[in-house]
Amino acid sequence: MTFSRTLKIAPSILSADFANFGQEIEAVEAQGADWIHVDVMDGHFVPNLTFGPPLVKAIRPHIKTVMDVHLMIAPVDPYIDAFVDAGADVITAHVEAGPHIHRTLQAIRAAGCKAGVALNPGTPAETVDYLLDMVDLICVMTVNPGFGGQKFIESQVEKVRRLRAMIGDRPIHIEIDGGITPQTAPLMRAAGADVLVAGSAVFKGGSVANPAPYGENIRAIRTACDTLV
Ligand code: DX5
Ligand code: ZN
Repeated sequence: MTFSRTLKIAPSILSADFANFGQEIEAVEAQGADWIHVDVMDGHFVPNLTFGPPLVKAIRPHIKTVMDVHLMIAPVDPYIDAFVDAGADVITAHVEAGPHIHRTLQAIRAAGCKAGVALNPGTPAETVDYLLDMVDLICVMTVNPGFGGQKFIESQVEKVRRLRAMIGDRPIHIEIDGGITPQTAPLMRAAGADVLVAGSAVFKGGSVANPAPYGENIRAIRTACDTLV
C-alpha cells in the first residue's frame, strides 16, 4: 500500500449478498473497486451485528486490492490480533469505543497493520489532534454507524475540511463512510477526502450474475468527483 491522495472507491460488503461474499468481492473488484470495506459490528457499540474474524479471514483470499476493516465494536483491543491474523491491511477503531484509543492505535501498528481512527458524526475533529502522528487513516462517519442506506449528514463536510487542514502533509488518508452517492461524493472530495466508502450506492441494481451495474455505479461516483472538483 503506497500512500496517495488519488480518489479511491471502497464498496462496503454490508450491502452485498451475505451468502456469497467471495464472488461479490471478485465482481465488484472486476468492476473497478479500489478497496474493499468490511464492516464489523457487535450489537453493543452499534445496534447491529454482522460478523467476526473467521468470516474476515475467509474472504481475504478473494480480495486482491486492500482489505479495509472497520471495527464498530467495544472493546477493541482483545480482538486486534484476530483481525491482523485474518489478513486486514487497514484496521480502523472508533475513538468513542473506549478510553484508550491511543493504546489501540499503537497495538494495531505494532501488529504490522495500517491504523485507522473513526469519528462518529457527533465527535469533533479535534479529538484526533494528538493522534495524528500515529494514524494512517481517519474515517469520518457521515451517518450514525450501524446500518447501510442512511441519509448523509451534511455537517460533516466542514469536519473534513478541518481535518484536511490539521493533517497538513502527513500521509494520512481521509475516508468518508455513509450516505455516499454521486451527489454527496463531490462535496467530500472537494473538502479533502480520498477514500469514499459506498455500500448501497455501489451494489444497487447489480448482482454476481449481473455485475455491470456495479461498474456503472462506481463510475458514476468517480465521474461526479472528477467533474466537480
Ligand atoms: C455504516 C457502515 C458503512 C455502510 C455504508 O455503519 O460503516 O460502511 O455500509 O453504507 P451506505 O453507503 O449504504 O450508507
Ligand atoms: Zn464502515
